[in-house]
Amino acid sequence: MGAHYEQRGAVAVITLDNPPVNGLGYDTRVALAAGLERAAADAGVQAVVLTGGGRAFSGGADIREFGSPKAIAEPNLHSVIRLVEGCAKPVVAAINGVCMGGGLELALSCHYRVAAAGVDVALPEVKLGLLPGAGGTQRLPRVLGVETALNMIVSGEPVKSDLLAALPGQKLFDRIEAGALLDAACAFALERAAEAAAGKPLPRVRDLKCTHPNADAYFGFARNTVKAMAKNFPAPNRCVDAVEAAVRQPFDAGLATERELFMQLMFTPESKALRHAFFGERAASKIPDVPEDTPRRSIARVAVIGAGTMGGGISMNFLNAGIPVTMLEMKQDALDRGVATIRKNYEAQVKKGKLKQDKLDARMALLSTTLNYADVADADLVIEAVFEEMGVKEKVFKTLDEVMKPGAILASNTSTLDVNQIASFTKRPQDVVGMHFFSPANVMKLLEVVRGAATAKDVLATVMTLAKKIRKTAVVSGVCDGFIGNRMIEQYGRQGGFLLEEGCTPAQVDKAAEKFGFAMGPFRMGDLAGNDIGWAIRKRRYVEKPGMRYSKTADLLCEMGRYGQKTGAGWYDYQAGKRDAIPSDVVVKMIEDHRKSLGITPRKISDDEIVHRLVYSLVNEAARILEEGIASKASDIDMVYLTGYGFPLHRGGPMCYADSQGLYNVVKTMKKFAANPLDDAAFWQPAPLLARLAAEGRSFT
Ligand code: NAI
Repeated sequence: MGAHYEQRGAVAVITLDNPPVNGLGYDTRVALAAGLERAAADAGVQAVVLTGGGRAFSGGADIREFGSPKAIAEPNLHSVIRLVEGCAKPVVAAINGVCMGGGLELALSCHYRVAAAGVDVALPEVKLGLLPGAGGTQRLPRVLGVETALNMIVSGEPVKSDLLAALPGQKLFDRIEAGALLDAACAFALERAAEAAAGKPLPRVRDLKCTHPNADAYFGFARNTVKAMAKNFPAPNRCVDAVEAAVRQPFDAGLATERELFMQLMFTPESKALRHAFFGERAASKIPDVPEDTPRRSIARVAVIGAGTMGGGISMNFLNAGIPVTMLEMKQDALDRGVATIRKNYEAQVKKGKLKQDKLDARMALLSTTLNYADVADADLVIEAVFEEMGVKEKVFKTLDEVMKPGAILASNTSTLDVNQIASFTKRPQDVVGMHFFSPANVMKLLEVVRGAATAKDVLATVMTLAKKIRKTAVVSGVCDGFIGNRMIEQYGRQGGFLLEEGCTPAQVDKAAEKFGFAMGPFRMGDLAGNDIGWAIRKRRYVEKPGMRYSKTADLLCEMGRYGQKTGAGWYDYQAGKRDAIPSDVVVKMIEDHRKSLGITPRKISDDEIVHRLVYSLVNEAARILEEGIASKASDIDMVYLTGYGFPLHRGGPMCYADSQGLYNVVKTMKKFAANPLDDAAFWQPAPLLARLAAEGRSFT
């Protein structure tokens, strides 16, 4: 396994076989090297064709081996590439499908390349904070020209084979084959073998010249463009360095430079963060006690109860995926408003050129509305998005239990209420699950899938698969107040409030958070989301948990009617129709007065303290969430924060960031925070799991 060898006349055909994308894992490399040696030694073989089984040529490194010794065990990719390039018989790559990363680097080491049309070709390493490390930065510019190659390497985006083949002067493809690729490649290989027998040397990409007519100016320009585009990530700049080396240095020296830059990037926290997120996304869809082959229920029709802010956004996800949706409301005008908002959102996309009119029409045609539960009874999945009140939810779920067909999945979009209690309103708690979307639900990637005590495994498996279909990152959460994301953000919000009391302004806190990399600091975020939402939650929560101390500044703000952007004033002032946050004297005065009333003398607080109080409050609560089993792994928590809360990607999420700082240091800092009499000493006691990991010198991830 790994690769097959077969002889077709005088051609040895080596077929990569490592589903799903023929990743160049250890077994594949061993089989490939063995095949090449066998072909070289066999007098009956005149040429070699290298191709991929299934739909891919090769997607590159086998991600399942990432970070394991197997990934670099000999024969490593460099050795295989040297074998191919040095083969005395012509080697032809027959590129039948996806050709990416190490797969493209392998193809570039072949003497010739024949490709099917419409194949995706890419060097996507930059997306993991790396650069192509097996000659890609040196060989691709030699066949496509410096500019085209650099664009591909810096963006990591795929380009279709036939588009590349149409570029004037390109040497990436010798031929694009519309017919039977393998037959054509074999015939082509025999012709090349005949030429070689007649004395024609085998062409090698390394022997091609790599030049640019205005190298100084061009690379200066490239660096400027890249700087603007990748401010928190070093990899794009190193890609420019590597391609510049292809121009400035002889081939082997350029390869050595590429190697050195690759190793530098490999150990950057940014690349670690990107790889963590990449694997975290895949890991999130796997639930420890739900086998991957759990049968899924079929979801062909969806119903949404409530056509408000969330109901409309949720519906759009399914319409976008071609799944018909029926929205149900109490009154016709609420339905009309809901439909109008959806249409308006799509029309805005059409105006921006992001959506074609016929697509808009097709999506709207999938949407129907009703005031009558009989019209939704046949839906395979119903998602409730009515007011956040248990009494309202109770009525809805009792009705759903009566009318919905057996086997239908009953989901609630509640952000804080107890999913187990909601399930208890029905006689089918196994079919009830939380599907917690984030606002705007048609945009935000995150979906928290809330697993009730009775939720059936096939319901979970179905929802996780469906999430992929509607392009969400789904993370499973157990039942608790706020689930994973909002339970953590509560602590973050409390720290924001304490920081104000102790001496900060909202702008100072936001700036520090934004410098750390948050898309928005806590106060700008509050103004965007609406400060009244948190107010309502606090009213309920802190009545239930009277011991929990919090800063009253946010309540005072709401009492002033400053709900945020929607009221034109919040933590900041806003000019009509604009979203720029203007620091507000009134708010600063309110905070000062409040501080005085508490008898606090303000002190100067460093950005470092601000950021660590905010971020470590997330981490400590997250450690409790992990320990309680609300989240099943640390990377799930990071995915929640990266995809739902604007946590900076280059930090990899709160848990990944804590690991990067060393949990010993994290604990030490928390103990310092606990000694601050104006903060919450009880909260800052390191969670037992965190304390244990720190003591053992271990990490979350
Ligand atoms: P909304 O007030 O915009 O919409 C609620 C809609 O439900 C209204 O159109 C109302 O007419 C309708 N409705 C109320 N009772 C109903 C009933 N018995 N039958 C049919 N329709 C009924 O509220 P929003 O913001 O969309 O929130 C809905 C749910 O989503 C709540 O549970 C909320 O906690 C949750 N949620 C809200 C988020 C947000 O940022 N707004 C984020 C995530 C979840």
